[in-house]
Amino acid sequence: MIRTKNITFSYQEYETHEELNEEDRNLVMSARESASSAYAPYSKFRVGAAVLLENGTIVCGANVENAAFPSGICAERNALSNSISNYQNDKPVAIAIASLSEDGINEDPPAPCGNCRQVIAEEEVRTGKKIRIILSGRNKTLIIEGIDNLLPLQFNRNNLKISLP
Ligand code: THU
Repeated sequence: MIRTKNITFSYQEYETHEELNEEDRNLVMSARESASSAYAPYSKFRVGAAVLLENGTIVCGANVENAAFPSGICAERNALSNSISNYQNDKPVAIAIASLSEDGINEDPPAPCGNCRQVIAEEEVRTGKKIRIILSGRNKTLIIEGIDNLLPLQFNRNNLKISLP
């Protein structure tokens, strides 16, 4: 017996980041600011990510490239590595992502790469809390409530038959 199943997801689309609530808008501004400190001499695609912790702290990261291309790292993973290693007990509630090219904020909202989606998934499972994902472009900002929307049928610690504290 073969069954066709469908996975759909809903997200909110805002025309500008000015329509966002203050907390989300501040997070987008932090992500944009962080993008300006990226080290991206090869792609010239500068990405900034800002993680909001439940205690209100914002932790940022930008992409850092390397002449040995796979040694570079994305903004989202830099921001999350920073928040996890420095604020392990403060759970992230949201992450905003923005990108800059040579002519300013990119029109399209940046989509996190597969590796970053996997890392966001790990953090949701580690903390037991969904992370609101805010993707901000020049004329459009998308809000996605939780990584299962961007990474359905995900592999995570529940697939490993081990128990963690
Ligand atoms: N990049 C990110 O920082 N985040 C993503 O989710 C997508 C891609 C970076 C990696 C690389 O430095 C540049 O953007 C171009 O791929």
